Amino acid sequence: MTDTDTTTNTDTTTNTHPAAPVAFPQDRTCPYHPPAAYDPLRAARPLARITLFDGRPAWLVTGHAAARRLLADQRLSTDRTRDGFPATSARLAAVRERRTALLGVDDPEHRAQRRMVLPEFTLKRAGALRPSIRRIVGERLDAMIAQGPPADLVTAFALPVPSMVICALLGVPYADHEFFEEQSRRLLRGPLPADTRDARDRLEAYLGELIDRKRRAPGEGLLDDLVRRQASEGATDREQLIAFAVILLVAGHETTANMISLGTYTLLTNPGRLAELRADPALLPGAVEELMRVLSIADGLLRMATEDIDVDGQTIRAGDGVVFSTSVINRDESVYPEPDALDWHRPARHHVAFGFGIHQCLGQNLARAELEIALESLFDRLPTLRLAAPADEIPFKPGDTIQGMLELPVAW
Ligand code: HEM
Repeated sequence: MTDTDTTTNTDTTTNTHPAAPVAFPQDRTCPYHPPAAYDPLRAARPLARITLFDGRPAWLVTGHAAARRLLADQRLSTDRTRDGFPATSARLAAVRERRTALLGVDDPEHRAQRRMVLPEFTLKRAGALRPSIRRIVGERLDAMIAQGPPADLVTAFALPVPSMVICALLGVPYADHEFFEEQSRRLLRGPLPADTRDARDRLEAYLGELIDRKRRAPGEGLLDDLVRRQASEGATDREQLIAFAVILLVAGHETTANMISLGTYTLLTNPGRLAELRADPALLPGAVEELMRVLSIADGLLRMATEDIDVDGQTIRAGDGVVFSTSVINRDESVYPEPDALDWHRPARHHVAFGFGIHQCLGQNLARAELEIALESLFDRLPTLRLAAPADEIPFKPGDTIQGMLELPVAW
């Protein structure tokens, strides 16, 4: 698993269907590879049958071309409130009754919602944020270095950096970070469905109060802009503003934090690739794409078919659940030869780790900027950075949530 620049997972090229539906999702055994139990799914492209946590069957999209086609297909809905919408955990099933902004909304409503926030997430805007991201990254490293070694890279660096960035962008006080980070953790990884619901309710109540305060005295931030626009156009109601705030705040820090921790772990356990990157910093943008592809931390995008859809001779029926395994799709060897190998030189940009189609990650430009600056600064400032525990003893997240490290003990 570790200290190799290639992988231990075997990849089959035979195009056969697995004998029986494979349970999905399953826990990874190595934090940066799909579980070996997915090997039959990797052999069955572009579609395989899976069984979800509740015993329901669903389709798993495994082929790269089919994935991009289907993610752009409006006959697949993301509206989680639909009867029979699939869920990959009891936790997700528990919060299906309320509509998520953006990610849980189909066109044409989705287009209108996305237009409201898009200007804050363009490539140009992410570029303009780079100096403040650099400042935040520098301050977090100063604080970590002042207190260590050793340090837990998750709590000292990987989590605070994206939290601070999204707080500044939205106009959420970072002073409240312990509260919203804890609720996000419970929402995405709580032990019981009731816990998930409670976390969602607490986040909504907190953000509702924040929005009410902004209504009385708008300040600077995307949420303030939305409040101002609401006042002038009457366009968005309070519930919708809260729904926007929840998804932007949660998606804006958890995902990137996981990529920073898991990306660092991957580099430290692949010293040859790390050395190559350090020798030529121009490789960094390509390396970030390749890490996104290989790590595929959001592994299990959910849709439901609203009409019959033919996929290379197989029919997805109206009402069927459809799940996209980004880790399997991003290892389609017809697009990525030797798919398990980390290769900074390959054109990895067409991966689906940020999704594809109308729901493609709104924050991808921001996430790329954060990842480039965080990884570059970390290894520049701490050239002797190393794991402070045996690689295979460091705990990582279970398969039914966004993948990442639970903790990352490091020294330098
Ligand atoms: C490396 C970090 C990130 C990863 C891996 C990631 C991954 C994804 C993926 C896979 C989707 C598509 C989901 C689907 O189609 O079902 C998505 C959508 C989304 N992401 Fe990200 N994301 C990241 C960072 C961010 C950041 C920093 C934000 C900032 C607010 C963000 C906000 C969103 C939103 C709002 C959507 C829904 C977009 C829509 O439905 O129009 N993400 N993300």
